[in-house]
Amino acid sequence: MKKLSVIGAGNVGASTVQRLAESKFGDIVMLDVVPGLPQGKALDLMQAAPLMGYDVDIKGTNDYADIEGSDIVIITAGIARKPGMTRDDLLNINAKITRDVCGNIRQYAPKSIVLTVTNPLDIITYAAYKYTGFGKKRVFGMSGLLDSARFASFVAKEVGCSVKDVDAMVLGGHGDNMVPLPQYTTVSGIPVSEFLPKETIDRLVTRTIDAGAEIVSLLKEGSAFYAPSAAIVAMVDAIINDSARVIPTSVYLEGEYGFSDVCMGVPAKLGKNGVEKVIEIDLSPEQVAALSISEKAVRSGIEKLDLRVYEKAFVV
Ligand code: APR
Repeated sequence: MKKLSVIGAGNVGASTVQRLAESKFGDIVMLDVVPGLPQGKALDLMQAAPLMGYDVDIKGTNDYADIEGSDIVIITAGIARKPGMTRDDLLNINAKITRDVCGNIRQYAPKSIVLTVTNPLDIITYAAYKYTGFGKKRVFGMSGLLDSARFASFVAKEVGCSVKDVDAMVLGGHGDNMVPLPQYTTVSGIPVSEFLPKETIDRLVTRTIDAGAEIVSLLKEGSAFYAPSAAIVAMVDAIINDSARVIPTSVYLEGEYGFSDVCMGVPAKLGKNGVEKVIEIDLSPEQVAALSISEKAVRSGIEKLDLRVYEKAFVV
């Protein structure tokens, strides 16, 4: 039986646990700093088991010892941006939380694959890569699959076709500078440009870039979690079933696409070891330029990270 741990029992964490349970991949631990929160949600989810027919254990906890021996750890712990808080404030707080989480993962689940979800995603993925020291195959982030799903859902609606027939690809950093690739977006293998005029595709690209913000402004409080948790579970599925799916993933780059020492969304083959291979595709000069802008934005955040704490606290 596999063991999966989800750090953070908020909207994204708890809906991920629900989807994982319903996928029956293995036993699940849900951890949060708030006393009672993960325990209460785990109990509720266990009481749904007889109805939904999942035979897995779900444990809610505040104690990292419970994640011991996890095969996969998913990090959703963090805070969302509050009024008056800058992106840098958010970065500093979530990076500190990530440092704490990663120290515990090193201690209790040193063989695990770590999937990051907390925002700002690519910067937090970089931090987790550094703080765990697990290597690029075992530490990577979920974002491109979510952005691609958002783009695919808009395309399907506009074309009036099944979402099952749409394949979309979004690369780069998860944020205002993400790089949707309409050229690699197809409906049953047919380029989307055969179905929609350029102006419509451009509008859908812009809507994809703003998709997270569109939901935040509608919800008034909190951010998206149904699609994010669905994307997380698709990535976990690829790992658990060693399916070699090619999924846009935020990965630590070492020269791929001309970038080094940065994490960013690129197509990657996922399997039982995590990132089995980064796939390099030919990009147009415009796409390369867009990717460079994205990379600069991520790198400026990375430069603000306090990695010294890692050296002091966690170097063995
Ligand atoms: N350790 C464990 N859990 C923590 C810690 C910590 N040090 N700090 C905060 N948490 C928990 C909070 O108690 C809360 O329950 O993380 C949870 C976050 O939940 P929400 O506020 O509901 O946020 P959510 O919508 O789930 O988003 C989580 O994922 O998509 C990203 O941008 C999103 O960064 C955010 C993250």
